[in-house]
Amino acid sequence: MKNILITGGAGFIGSNLTRKLVEKGFNVTILDNLSKQIHGEDQNSTLFKSIKDIATFIKGDVCVKADWQNALKGQDAVIHLAAETGTGQSMYEIEKYNEVNILGTAHLLDFLANEKHNIKKMIIASSRSIYGEGKYICDNDGVVYPNERNDKDMANGNFESICSSCGENLIITSTDEQSKIHPSSIYGITKQQQEQMILLMGKALNIPAVALRYQNVYGPGQSLSNPYTGILSIFSTRLLNGNDIDIYEDGMESRDFVFIDDVVDATILALEKKEANHQIFNVGSGIATTVNEVANTLKSLYESEVKISISGKYRLGDIRHNYADLSKIKKALGFVPKFDFISGISKFVAWVKTQEIMEDKYESSIEELKQKGLIK
Ligand SMILES: NC(=O)c1ccc[n+]([C@@H]2O[C@H](COP(=O)([O-])OP(=O)(O)OC[C@H]3O[C@@H](n4cnc5c(N)ncnc54)[C@H](O)[C@@H]3O)[C@@H](O)[C@H]2O)c1
Ligand SMILES: [Zn+2]
Repeated sequence: MKNILITGGAGFIGSNLTRKLVEKGFNVTILDNLSKQIHGEDQNSTLFKSIKDIATFIKGDVCVKADWQNALKGQDAVIHLAAETGTGQSMYEIEKYNEVNILGTAHLLDFLANEKHNIKKMIIASSRSIYGEGKYICDNDGVVYPNERNDKDMANGNFESICSSCGENLIITSTDEQSKIHPSSIYGITKQQQEQMILLMGKALNIPAVALRYQNVYGPGQSLSNPYTGILSIFSTRLLNGNDIDIYEDGMESRDFVFIDDVVDATILALEKKEANHQIFNVGSGIATTVNEVANTLKSLYESEVKISISGKYRLGDIRHNYADLSKIKKALGFVPKFDFISGISKFVAWVKTQEIMEDKYESSIEELKQKGLIK
């Protein structure tokens, strides 16, 4: 396997992956439409510049069949990353999220089913968002997957999930690949469907397929201008503009933040190892970090004076906790994350400090959500 097509290869994960694969001697082709939300109006982002001279770049759209045809010529493997990725945004741009994420994937599979090709591996970027709320333990009922939290509890400041059968408090545990799939956003639903389509057709067409369920990926190259994704970017842009940070819920909600270099390593293991074939893997740090911890760590690393306040506001469809059980990927592929949160976030902040300070578009993105009734 020498020739690798990466869709969305100009994006955050894709550009980092491209650089590492090129370093390792692969020929990388990128299919990317340089979406304005990620690459700005002039579509000449630092990310794009970082890959344009080291890979074959095809400006094209995964929603256009002919662009896939052009890009797939001569490839040995495809890593499908191109997607619309905003969880909140997916709740009011439903057609677009379905079109890019699902129809885009359908075009790839139609090509593989109907045309001559040489593809020996396909990898799909799935997401922890397909799990929705994570896996919990109830003293009375054992393992439970709580329902979405209701408006009334959250309005009263009760943010923790409770047991759907006995109503007791729960203890969070790590989510493994067998955990219940119950996405709480359109984005999550499209990721689930992408994953199922790729794995099913991989079996049917005898093309080894791998689904990687990435947790919250962060690090150098993450979009600092997209107000719809990436809490580390959103907070950084606010801090550097001297704007206060308003934390949702009580700040004790948590996520699994995984450093980009670890995600790149896991993806390359999935590409190279036959033990990955036809499998699903969690890719994370395996550690839960609260939003409070994120905000306070960033504030101190930027030596900022802004106020961090806890608003009690909340977003419908947000989950409370989720972190990855990494046993499977460790055993099958030997993957162990190299970066803990502090070392990763320090590298991220050092990189942000070298970047132009972006205009803070967060307020207007929140206004959009408010208007649609998606924030309380
Ligand atoms: N970053 C994360 O935390 C995270 C977590 C879980 C899953 N993922 C998944 O990983 C993948 C990559 O994420 P990322 O963070 O690098 O996102 P990103 O937005 O930085 O990159 C996506 C790239 O896809 C391109 N793109 C968008 N629509 C396209 C289209 N219609 N045709 C061609 N190209 C298009 C964009 O221009 C961009 O360069 C996505 O599938 C995402 O759902 C990311
Ligand atoms: Zn119970």
